[in-house]
Amino acid sequence: MILTRRSALCVGAGALAGCAALPEAAPVRARPIVIAHRGASGYRPEHTLAAYRLAIAQGADFIEPDLVMTRDGVPVARHENEIGGTTNVASRPEFAARKAVKEIDGERFEGWFTEDFTLAELKTLRARERLPQLRPGNVAFDGQETIPTFAEVIALAQAEGDRLGRTIGVYPETKHPTYHERIGLSFDAPLLAALKAADWDRPEAPVFIQSFEVSNLRRLAGLTRVRLVQLIAEEGAPFDQVRPEVRASYRAMLTDGGLADIRTYAAGIGPQKTLIVPRDADGRSLPPTDLVARAQKAGLVVHPWTFRNENVFLPAELRRGDAAAADVQRLSGDAQAEVEQFLKLGVDGVFADFPDVAVAARARAVQTP
Ligand code: G3P
Ligand code: CA
Repeated sequence: MILTRRSALCVGAGALAGCAALPEAAPVRARPIVIAHRGASGYRPEHTLAAYRLAIAQGADFIEPDLVMTRDGVPVARHENEIGGTTNVASRPEFAARKAVKEIDGERFEGWFTEDFTLAELKTLRARERLPQLRPGNVAFDGQETIPTFAEVIALAQAEGDRLGRTIGVYPETKHPTYHERIGLSFDAPLLAALKAADWDRPEAPVFIQSFEVSNLRRLAGLTRVRLVQLIAEEGAPFDQVRPEVRASYRAMLTDGGLADIRTYAAGIGPQKTLIVPRDADGRSLPPTDLVARAQKAGLVVHPWTFRNENVFLPAELRRGDAAAADVQRLSGDAQAEVEQFLKLGVDGVFADFPDVAVAARARAVQTP
């Protein structure tokens, strides 16, 4: 585990809440954090209180709700505002007329959209597994859980933190912020109000707010001292940066100058994991890039995504099972080894669908530095 000069001030899970935020923040590199990606989404339908609760039981430090908005302006936990695949809305005749076609960030979607439902209406729906073919075991939990609000996710983190005597943080992601602003449902006020209501609108709160876009993070930096994280994909550009006069691709944001600019409004980056360990055409890992060191030198924490057990998400050398088997893609490979590799490269945390695997990798990385 890599420790910095500042780390003595920040050691321990509880100290995650004690590390200063912008503009005083130094990199938080004491104990790499395990961020439960959409909850323990490898084991339960994602973005349900059951998924978050299991993640906490498995040792996650943070739970991650992706956020979208209801018609009445409430942030709720879903990966997309289109909910045909992750709820039973399609089987509800009273909502059949809500089916719509929309363009979101330049892509066409057909289905049911959270912004067309009040919170009370959404609460009558039940969550279901997004990837039933990849994760058939999770289907057994379909129909058991409602869509949680962001406030409910915070309340769960705080209650479980109190019960267990350790800090459980929240790591919300604003999904499609420009789209939401254009339909009059900006995240800014309700997101910050939910944090304020929970007394987590302070710089030392165990909270990171993330976005693939830039302009809402820049704006939030002027509205809150909660830590912000710029998400970076391997390809493409932030949706709000693709205008010809801007043209800021994700790759350009990873130059030294780009990282320095991110540091003016964010405390960290959340890069796609292949930006740290790239892969060749056969899916095998290539030597690591220098991104972790350069980002940390710029004063940014580094939280890559997404670590998952299934072979389909792993580099070729960590896949396991009979390559000719029909279900080989969904079988588990050596995911712990992948997480361990990244921890030894010095990342400050990982987003994981299987938090127990990431926690085990962290324990092993500490034992075998
Ligand atoms: O927020 C980190 C990672 O979750 C980004 O990807 O699509 O899973 O939200 P996504
Ligand atoms: Ca996310």
